[in-house]
Amino acid sequence: MEIVVSGIRPTGNLHLGNYMGALKNFVKMQHEYNCYFFIADYHSLTTHPNPKDLHNNVKQVLAEYLACGLDPESCALYIQSDLPEIPELYMLLNMHAYKGELERVSSFKEKAQSHPDNINAGLLTYPVLMAADIIIHKATKVPVGKDQEQHLEMARTFGNRFNRIYNTEVFPEPYAFNYGSNLVKIPGLQGGGKMSKSDGDNNVINLIDSPELIRKKMSRAVTDTGPTEMNTAPTPSVQNLFDLMKIVSEENTSKHFTDAYANCSIRYGDMKKQLAEDMITFLTPIREKIEAISNDTSYLGKVAKLGAEKAHDSATKTLNEVRDVIGFRKFY
Ligand code: TYM
Repeated sequence: MEIVVSGIRPTGNLHLGNYMGALKNFVKMQHEYNCYFFIADYHSLTTHPNPKDLHNNVKQVLAEYLACGLDPESCALYIQSDLPEIPELYMLLNMHAYKGELERVSSFKEKAQSHPDNINAGLLTYPVLMAADIIIHKATKVPVGKDQEQHLEMARTFGNRFNRIYNTEVFPEPYAFNYGSNLVKIPGLQGGGKMSKSDGDNNVINLIDSPELIRKKMSRAVTDTGPTEMNTAPTPSVQNLFDLMKIVSEENTSKHFTDAYANCSIRYGDMKKQLAEDMITFLTPIREKIEAISNDTSYLGKVAKLGAEKAHDSATKTLNEVRDVIGFRKFY
């Protein structure tokens, strides 16, 4: 059976972008493939979170995974830092990862520009750690949003390079995956291209956001001065709202507002109110489950332990092969 791996960084509450780009696929894939889903807490260290926040965020994301429907019996659901095999493979892959190719990765260039005071080696080698996460289980399918596409290309590069150098076929090629079609990019509320926390909390709708908060954020969503001529294309910020509507609203609701835009009768206030109510309907069952699970520390502990055991079994097998082909053989 094909192997699937994916993870999300614990940087706070998960938002609708994480859900649509990744989590929704995880939930379906767990019944169709051999799946390894994890919380990428090592990756979150590039921004130096304080220990209390890190712990709480990991706990929150674990509860959110479960609330969205991940079943710890059907897949391996684990915390990245519970698997020492990952940093070991990361270190080994780093020996064949080159500064030039890492500096050309767009996510590195963006972060280096936005945080010039914190261009650490972990940030530079982020794609190597991500490759280790994926190939440690010999995954071929990786459910992610559009923004991770280049990282998947790097994972293939590092896996193929290892195979070539050691004349082996340990690692198959992993590809980004999304059910049905292309990888998705969910837009933000502030006119930005991508729903992302780095553009502020008002840019994202979190899975845990209360109805009041969703209404408030939607009322502040960026629009424009409105169409003045029939059948003109919406500006990017308004197009974002139409795109969000396609995800959470009924088809005829979307059509109603698209038609109203086309004939210049649209009232953005009404559209944003409708979108808020449809988001609330969409997210309420998830929010209620998150609230029910997130304080059940003993259940979360059991889940994390079971996941670590399953993931450890698979990771040790691969790492033993890797150590052997490299030439690390026991003298005792
Ligand atoms: P992260 O934590 O930034 O995001 C987690 C997942 O959510 C998707 N996503 C989106 N998809 C569509 N539209 C959006 N606006 C949006 N925002 C986030 C991301 O594409 C991602 O799938 N490097 C990864 C975490 C990671 C990983 C891995 C993923 C570490 N190791 C191994 C897969 C396999 C990251 O930072 O994702």
